[in-house]
Amino acid sequence: MTDATLIDGRAVAATLQATIARGVAAVVERTQQAPGLAVVMVGDDPASRAYVRSKTKQVEAAGMRAIDHRLPADVREAEVLALVQRLNADPAVNGILVQLPLPSQIRAEAVIDALDPAKDVDGFHPVNAGRLASGHLGGAFVPCTPQGCLMLIKGERPSLAGLKAVVVGRSAIVGRPMAGLLLSESCSVTQVHSRTRDLPAECRAADILVVATGKPRFVEGGWIKPGAVVIDVGINRLPGADGKTQIVGDVDFESARRVAGAITPVPGGVGPMTIACLLRNTLLAACRQHGLAEPAE
Ligand code: GUN
Repeated sequence: MTDATLIDGRAVAATLQATIARGVAAVVERTQQAPGLAVVMVGDDPASRAYVRSKTKQVEAAGMRAIDHRLPADVREAEVLALVQRLNADPAVNGILVQLPLPSQIRAEAVIDALDPAKDVDGFHPVNAGRLASGHLGGAFVPCTPQGCLMLIKGERPSLAGLKAVVVGRSAIVGRPMAGLLLSESCSVTQVHSRTRDLPAECRAADILVVATGKPRFVEGGWIKPGAVVIDVGINRLPGADGKTQIVGDVDFESARRVAGAITPVPGGVGPMTIACLLRNTLLAACRQHGLAEPAE
């Protein structure tokens, strides 16, 4: 068996970002206003700070405005909710992203419920999650990471109907919406998780295997059906050689690449797609709010 094709998420994301930048330019021409994304970060978690910095840079590179709101780690929930209300009402803000996780005194569900679903570019509000779950994708915002995963999968398997897809993980951000998207593509979807009885056997049945467990190198080559498309959502930081940090996925890449037909590397696979899809959702939000035609895929 030859080694798997490496799915180049950086290249796909760069192409998508160029398309988005053209769409942004068209919106600016029509409205004289750049689409605006408000990013709310509570506290000072280093990983969240790095994500937020990267998001801000790429939002601006696409010609949109990033409006950053930093709140102290001990802020009260009521203050976060009040900020969300102000952003909901601000016509210069087309999209709102509240960086998760939030400190324990703030209920993430309360903050997400407070978002205007039309500005919920994360796709986490129950209205958007419900649209996806009921298969009504028109008008929904689809969460960025599973949306990016689906684009990479379709790059390898343009026709997904009838294929068996297994999603490992059931988080609200990745696993659940990923299963919904694959079902909408007419895959036969199995969702597995930490309480599933025979995980390796379930995974071995998959033509499409999406892994989002947050456990480093959890899925091994022996769990993979020869020729399968493997999408690794994990970003795990482990101590590496000479004191440096090493980033690894939720799939054991070295054993998996010998069995899979195609696989995403970590880093450079799913990660770059998440931000590209955030830019896409923000452009979509701006078009919908201005009554403009939605940009083509
Ligand atoms: N934290 C980790 N991933 C995400 C994401 O996609 N959106 C938000 N808001 N927070 C996150």
